[in-house]
Amino acid sequence: MPRDEIRREETTWEEIRREETTWEENRRRRRLGRRFVDLDNGDEGDVPSRGDDLGGDWSRRDDVGGDSSTETTWKEVRRRDNGHGGDATVSSQLAMDVDKKDSVASDSSEQVVNPWEVAAKDGGKIDYDKLIDQFGCQRLDDSLIDRVQRLTSRQPHVFLRRGVFFAHRDFNEVLDAYERGDKFYLYTGRGPSSEALHLGHLIPFMFTKYLQEAFKVPLVIQLTDDEKCMWKNLSVEESQRLARENAKDIIACGFDVTKTFIFSDFDYVGGAFYKNMVKVAKCVTLNKAMGIFGFSGEDHIGKLSFPPVQACLSVPAVPSFPSSFPHLFPGKDKLRCLIPCAIDQDPYFRMTRDVAPRLGYSKPALIESSFFPALQASGENGKMSASDPNSAIYVTDTAKEIKNKINRYAFSGGQDSIEKHREIGANLEVDIPVKYLSFFLDDDTELEHIKKEYGEGRMLTGEVKKRLTEVLTEMVERHRMARAAVTDEMVDAFMAVRPLPSMFE
Ligand code: TRP
Repeated sequence: MPRDEIRREETTWEEIRREETTWEENRRRRRLGRRFVDLDNGDEGDVPSRGDDLGGDWSRRDDVGGDSSTETTWKEVRRRDNGHGGDATVSSQLAMDVDKKDSVASDSSEQVVNPWEVAAKDGGKIDYDKLIDQFGCQRLDDSLIDRVQRLTSRQPHVFLRRGVFFAHRDFNEVLDAYERGDKFYLYTGRGPSSEALHLGHLIPFMFTKYLQEAFKVPLVIQLTDDEKCMWKNLSVEESQRLARENAKDIIACGFDVTKTFIFSDFDYVGGAFYKNMVKVAKCVTLNKAMGIFGFSGEDHIGKLSFPPVQACLSVPAVPSFPSSFPHLFPGKDKLRCLIPCAIDQDPYFRMTRDVAPRLGYSKPALIESSFFPALQASGENGKMSASDPNSAIYVTDTAKEIKNKINRYAFSGGQDSIEKHREIGANLEVDIPVKYLSFFLDDDTELEHIKKEYGEGRMLTGEVKKRLTEVLTEMVERHRMARAAVTDEMVDAFMAVRPLPSMFE
């Protein structure tokens, strides 16, 4: 072996030795993480068991480049080790007042929100104001919502009116550009880890559909079947099957095939997309990736190569760049991207925004939602039993199942006795039926009426639950019929790599 080869080898070994602390930390973290369970299929997950859950806090705030962001990452890892290790245990949209008893030596003095974990301080509620402050994103205030109304000439979606989507990054810039006549494109996604979707999973898709219609813009939807294959230990074929099954649910939300491209990573990654993956990967060192993803020496090298190349960097990052879709956006390298997602995904996109300027790309803008609570979540002493199908309403539930789940499990803010209820009324802050109605009951006047009557004790829990049962049964039934009408040919049509000539019309 030539001398310089040897020297290079030695450096490598030195590096590895230096990294041993990292491995130790990661092993420890992994052990902690094993205590968590994922809602998607109730299995015990490795850490991180959700592919999207790989992000890590790239940095607290945007625009922190270079070493400082690495340092923050390490601090974050240490903090997580300190009792916050583990999988988010729940899907990103269904939250997440995780049962504290499940976590190891949980340090609840701070709330934790990242793609792996959502935990409120002292088992209480997520403090979204604080989150905005910590993350350095912006609140979606009324003036922006008014602006959306003006620009689209339609009533803003209930998720905007009711503050479900409550934070953003550069959404104002996207609107400025739109006002000048420059359009943008939308990007969202799903990791196909389970067959049945619950209502929380539908929220970003319902909202994205509204944005697409209101702004008349194209949309790309990424199905990360590759990551689920690795993290859920599914076969390639099974992850691809799930991706197509999930695509049917997504299509059933009503997307316009002339403006929407749905792709599976297994099918689409290559060409221009792959080039961007490699460019992004080159911006991230192994050290950084290990800090973010918490690998141990026992992890297979597929996982090790996946995040730098895909999960954290390319899976969320690459679709944020228009040049990844040459059949859609040829010569439109400056087209802005707007990503609707739940706020636990923010760390990925902080990172994407950090890398973008280094590659000469625009930073994607974000519009971010709060979490959808589990049926049992009380908001005070939240409890989410991760493997329990009764903690969520699935789009496959029958009318009877929906009724049962709501009646038996939806946490009520009503009082124990009718007398007391009539006297002091319901505590709307912790009441799940009211919370769910505020997501899915479109009629503002009716919602206000229910809140007033129930809050002042004239309406009883049973009546509110009955109304919620009607609303959800109708919604699930509508979804079921729409999904039944989605054929394999339609899935193929949405997933075909093709130009979308009328995508801005
Ligand atoms: N990681 C997400 C999940 O597992 C899927 C995803 C990929 C996504 N890209 C996205 C979600 C962009 C929101 C926005 O569900």
